[in-house]
Amino acid sequence: HGNAQKKLEKVASLIKEKKVNQICVMVGAGISTAAGIPDFRSPKTGIYNNLQRFNLPYAEAVFDLSYFRKNPRPFYELAYELMPEKFRPTYTHYFIRLLHDKGLLKRCYTQNIDTLERLAGIPEDLLVEAHGSFQYSRCIECYEMSDTEYVRSCIKQKQVPQCVHCKGFVKPMITFYGEGLPSRFFEEMEDDTTNCDMALVLGTSLLVHPFAELPEIVPDSCERVLINREIAGDFGERKNDTIVLGDCEVHIRSLCEMLGWSEDLDKLATP
Ligand code: OAD
Repeated sequence: HGNAQKKLEKVASLIKEKKVNQICVMVGAGISTAAGIPDFRSPKTGIYNNLQRFNLPYAEAVFDLSYFRKNPRPFYELAYELMPEKFRPTYTHYFIRLLHDKGLLKRCYTQNIDTLERLAGIPEDLLVEAHGSFQYSRCIECYEMSDTEYVRSCIKQKQVPQCVHCKGFVKPMITFYGEGLPSRFFEEMEDDTTNCDMALVLGTSLLVHPFAELPEIVPDSCERVLINREIAGDFGERKNDTIVLGDCEVHIRSLCEMLGWSEDLDKLATP
């Protein structure tokens, strides 16, 4: 634990001494587990390890486009359980918001579809929702956009929304296996990764591409920091990497303490 404190002190001093001021944050499901949303791959609690009731051919089928076309029910039952509005942002989300308030946030790349970054007040232009979100939905056959409220009410009633024009299944615009990432991801990634001075990776296993490439393509001069329960991606391969293992909520609060930001953080996180 003392080891973690030392590493966080290093991160805090880089920020305090203004050695970094263009921070690219890259996050995954691990930053939302404290909000009560399960991640995907944690052994006991992860979504992919708790799908037996759906009799899927393989776990990721629940987010696979060709499987959805045949059977959209498992996705919609899961969507009911993951309904965004039931959840509140975590300290980690509010910390990213604080980075923005302090003028240090270059961009926040998220793989999450829970929209908690928006709820935490991270402005849309600083956010890249790399796997989309529940914000918009459309028909998988004719691509006609569907009314968000209609889709929401279907999810609440555990029904599959259908296109008003062609009766095709409607799907929230979250990135499924078999689909490309939103164009915004590719438009921003090159400049962001070239011109950031810290890549701060939080709560992700970095197992899904192309998102996982983000911390790999930053220049050697860029500080790379991972705060996660386990090591991920190619962290550890560069001698200047900072790897802080454990709960990101705990570590983020320590980091804020070191930065003198605790009061700001509590103010944001208080409903
Ligand atoms: P994963 O479930 O693969 O990884 C979550 C990581 O966060 C794991 O390394 C956990 O150990 C860690 N973790 C969980 N809770 C934590 C906590 N409180 N503090 C610190 N670490 C914690 O989730 P992602 O990496 O986000 O894609 O998964 C990437 C993509 O795979 C998702 O966006 C989704 C999925 O298939 C699509 O659906 C397209």
